[in-house]
Amino acid sequence: MANPLRELRIRSLMLILALLLTACGQAVPATDDAPAPATGDTAVPTIDDADATGAGKLEIFSWWTNPGEADGLEAMYDIYRTQSPGIEIVNATISGGAGTNAKTVLVTRMQGGQPPDSFQVHAGQELIGTWVVADKMEPITNMFQEEGWTDVMPQTLLDQIMHNGEIYSVPVNIHRSNMLWYNKTIFEENNLTPPSALDEFFTVAEALQAAGVTPLAVGGKDKFETPHLFESVLLATFGPEDYAKLFQDQAMWDDPRVEEAAETARRMLEYANEDRASLSWPDAAQTVVEGRTAMMIMGDWAHGYFLNSGAELDVDYGYVPAPGTEGVFMWLSDSFGLPQGAPNRDAALAWLRVCGSQAGQDAFNPKKGSIPARTDADRSLYDAYLQYSIDSFAADTLAPSVVHGAAANEAYMSSYGNALNVFAADLDVETLVQSLRDAALDL
Ligand code: GAL
Repeated sequence: MANPLRELRIRSLMLILALLLTACGQAVPATDDAPAPATGDTAVPTIDDADATGAGKLEIFSWWTNPGEADGLEAMYDIYRTQSPGIEIVNATISGGAGTNAKTVLVTRMQGGQPPDSFQVHAGQELIGTWVVADKMEPITNMFQEEGWTDVMPQTLLDQIMHNGEIYSVPVNIHRSNMLWYNKTIFEENNLTPPSALDEFFTVAEALQAAGVTPLAVGGKDKFETPHLFESVLLATFGPEDYAKLFQDQAMWDDPRVEEAAETARRMLEYANEDRASLSWPDAAQTVVEGRTAMMIMGDWAHGYFLNSGAELDVDYGYVPAPGTEGVFMWLSDSFGLPQGAPNRDAALAWLRVCGSQAGQDAFNPKKGSIPARTDADRSLYDAYLQYSIDSFAADTLAPSVVHGAAANEAYMSSYGNALNVFAADLDVETLVQSLRDAALDL
């Protein structure tokens, strides 16, 4: 049943976002598609919450609440606690994959002059186009120079955190978006090989369905899951060069391959679980390890989830690049920044030094399911999948993820996401193609 107060709250949050984005010269996402406020048992910091701002505290804001991501964060906190024993960490997490809920709350706090001491933000346009151009972040270029980080982080990544010659956040990792995870036992029992091309995906899906298994697991609760699936389909359909052009040239969305990709996604979703709207990405991932579904296209935080929830790599689950994207690494990076007016600035600076350190990255990433942003990590700490990922990042063609902040600004991400979430429910190819063309106006 609709709750008018909740509606009002969502609308006022979106109004603030609108004001902020307008101040940045960007288009405004539709209020009707506002992300839902955080739910569940996670503590939701509000602008009245003065608790985290006391001296001797450090408030870190993120959306890492699930096995893998929460474990990795805790591993960095442990290092921080050893180095700064007098500081109490306030773990301000708001659940919701890809930050759908957290980002809305963050806007309220930043706009209300109540920033956390440091917050999770994707390197790329999510950082620069939203917060840096609105003059809400402090540059931390000096820290990079003092710590020698410009020598140990790839230039591709440094370019994503720079604006007018200054650096604005510390990348803690690199994730891969275009991966397919599958249930080993189901594939073995049915004598199947995981699909490497799009047409193979449909052959395999048909065989699985005939064997009585739901071929594909897709979530939907956090409103990023079908948009995530679709970025891999776009990549497979366009190839890395033309995929990148989609976010630079609006006219690319008139290309007939957009409709081809939409039709492929429609066919894929026909093989997916029907309850997807109510499943979060970890819920959907869980159906794969339990054998209730056979495959899932998801970023490699799924690996972090599987591992930290007790599944075994190459026994319970396996991995291949998303069909049709072999040799391309669709990347994204989580980073932490220093908001202007951070209440505990010194504590935040010490936190950022942990985030960029070799020890911090080597503690965080093996649990998170991501590879370090630094190229000098201790490889022996990373498992077989992560070593594969380190090698792929070095050898593959790179493509930026749109859903996770690397390829385009927030206004576009929001319009693209809205188009795909409507599609997740109605599977209407024609409407999707038109909505994607409309979304391109926000690029
Ligand atoms: C991504 C983020 C990952 C992971 C994932 C699922 O946007 O970069 O670190 O948290 O969302 O929530």
